[in-house]
Amino acid sequence: MNYEFPKGFLWGGATADSQYEGGFNEGGRGLASTDFVTDGSHTRARQVTYKLPDGTTSSCDFKKGMPEGAIGYLDPNEYYPSHQAVDFYHRYKEDIALMAEMGFNIYRFSICWTRIFPTGLEDEPNEAGLKFYEDVVDELLSHGMEPLITICHDQVPAYLADHYDGWSSRVTIEAYLKLAKALFERLGKKVKYWLTFNELNVLRGYAQMGTHSIEPQVHYQAMHHVFVASAYAVKMAHEMMPGCMVGTMYASSALYPLTCKPEDMMAQMRTRRLTHYYSDVMMNGCYPYFARMMWKDNGFTIQMEDDDEAMLAAYPLDFISISYYRSTTVNKDSIISPIGLCMDTNPYLKATPWGWPLDPLGLRYILNELYDRYNKPIMVVENGLGEIDEFVNNTVEDDYRINYLSDHFKAMHDAIVLDGVNCIGYTMWAPIDLVSMSTGEMKKRYGFVYVDMDDKGNGTRNRYKKKSFEWIKKVYTTNGASLSEE
Ligand code: BG6
Repeated sequence: MNYEFPKGFLWGGATADSQYEGGFNEGGRGLASTDFVTDGSHTRARQVTYKLPDGTTSSCDFKKGMPEGAIGYLDPNEYYPSHQAVDFYHRYKEDIALMAEMGFNIYRFSICWTRIFPTGLEDEPNEAGLKFYEDVVDELLSHGMEPLITICHDQVPAYLADHYDGWSSRVTIEAYLKLAKALFERLGKKVKYWLTFNELNVLRGYAQMGTHSIEPQVHYQAMHHVFVASAYAVKMAHEMMPGCMVGTMYASSALYPLTCKPEDMMAQMRTRRLTHYYSDVMMNGCYPYFARMMWKDNGFTIQMEDDDEAMLAAYPLDFISISYYRSTTVNKDSIISPIGLCMDTNPYLKATPWGWPLDPLGLRYILNELYDRYNKPIMVVENGLGEIDEFVNNTVEDDYRINYLSDHFKAMHDAIVLDGVNCIGYTMWAPIDLVSMSTGEMKKRYGFVYVDMDDKGNGTRNRYKKKSFEWIKKVYTTNGASLSEE
C-alpha cells in the first residue's frame, strides 16, 4: 500500500502553555487559573488549592468546583507544574530547531492569556507578552513552519475566575475578545491558522472555566458565553485577517455501543449528542433541536442577549479540529458525566498504562463521522501515546510510540485517500516531553524528544532525541511515503 499523503498536507506537533512554557512570574505575566493546579498521580487527582473568605485554605479536584468566594491560593508546600513546566519560555529557539529538524511544517501552540493581559481587565496588552509570542512566530517562520495558535487552552486569568466567576460572566467574553484583538493585530499578518478554544466540549470547573460551581446549569450558561465569544472572534478574525482560517478543537474519542442491544445503541446515540451539542452550535451556527429538549427536561435556563443567536448563525467556524487519543464504549448502565463524558473501556482493545484504549481505526471512524456531519475541513491537532519511557545511554528506545503513530497515520491516510475525508493536517501531541494535563505527571511522556525532568520538577530540563526522532523525520519529510515500507 502506498501511504503517501495528499500534496500540501500539514505535519507537525502541538503543545499548551501551562504544560510546556513555564516562566510563570516573568515578563509581567499574571496568574492563570491553571497556576493553582498541583501535580497528581495514577491514584491522586490533581488539586486546585484555594483560600476561603475566612482565611483558611483547602483544595479540590481540579475539574470540580470550589466554594463560592474562594480564590486561587499558592501553597508554599505544594508543587505547581505550570510554574516552570519544561521551560519553553527560555528554550524556544532550541525546541523549534528540533521541530524543524524533524521536518515539521506546522507547529501548534497556545497563548498564555495572562502574559498578554495579566488580570484580563487591562486596557492595553502587555508588550513583553506580545513580544514573546511574536518572537516564537518569527522563529517558526524562519524555519518554514506555519504557526497554528490556540487562543485559549483550558484556562482563564485567575483574576477573572476569582472576581467574576470566569465564563459565568459576560465580562469574560469582553476580556477574551480583547485578547483575540491584540493577537490578531500583532500576529495577523504572520499567522493564518487559529483555534479559538481547546477541547471545548470537556472544559470544567475553576481551573479550566474559572467557575466555582460545576452544576450543569452554571456549566451550560458559561458554555453559551464561550460560544458567543468564539463567534465574535471569528467575525473579528475575518475582518482583520482576510484569508485566515479559524477553528476550535473538540475532544473526539470514538464512541461505540458496548453491544448491539437496542438499549446500548440508544445509550450511544444519547451520549454522542452531548458531545455534538458543542460542535453543532459552532459548526452549524445554531443550537441543535435536542439542546432545547435537554434544557427543558432538566429545567435549565440559558440567558441570551438579543444578538447572540444571530452571531452564532453568522459566524460558524471555518474548520473543525480534534484531539484523538482513544475510543470509548457505552452501555445502558454506563455512568455518563453531565457534560457527556463516558470513559468505559473496550474488551477488544489493549490500553496504555493510564487505561486509555489503543484504537487506530477509531481515528478513521471519527474523521468520517465528523466529515459526514459538517462537511468542512478537519485537522487532527492532538494525537499521541502517553507512555513510561526508559532513559538509557541518553536516549529512549520507544518502538511502542513508533508503532502507535504508524498505525494512526495509516488510519488517517485511509480516511483521506480511501474515504474522501478532507483532513488537511496533523499536529502530534506532544513532540517534546511536557507535563501531563490530567495527572500533572512528567512520567507520562509523549515526545520524540526526552526532557530530563521528574514528576516533582527536578532535573536539568535538557533535551535528548529518542529513537522515534529519526523515524518521524522520515515520515514527515516523505509526506508519509516512508510508511509504505512498514
Ligand atoms: C488533551 C489536552 O486533553 O489531551 C492536552 O488538550 C493534554 O492539554 C492531552 O495534555 C493529553 O492528556 P494528558 O492528560 O495525557 O496530558
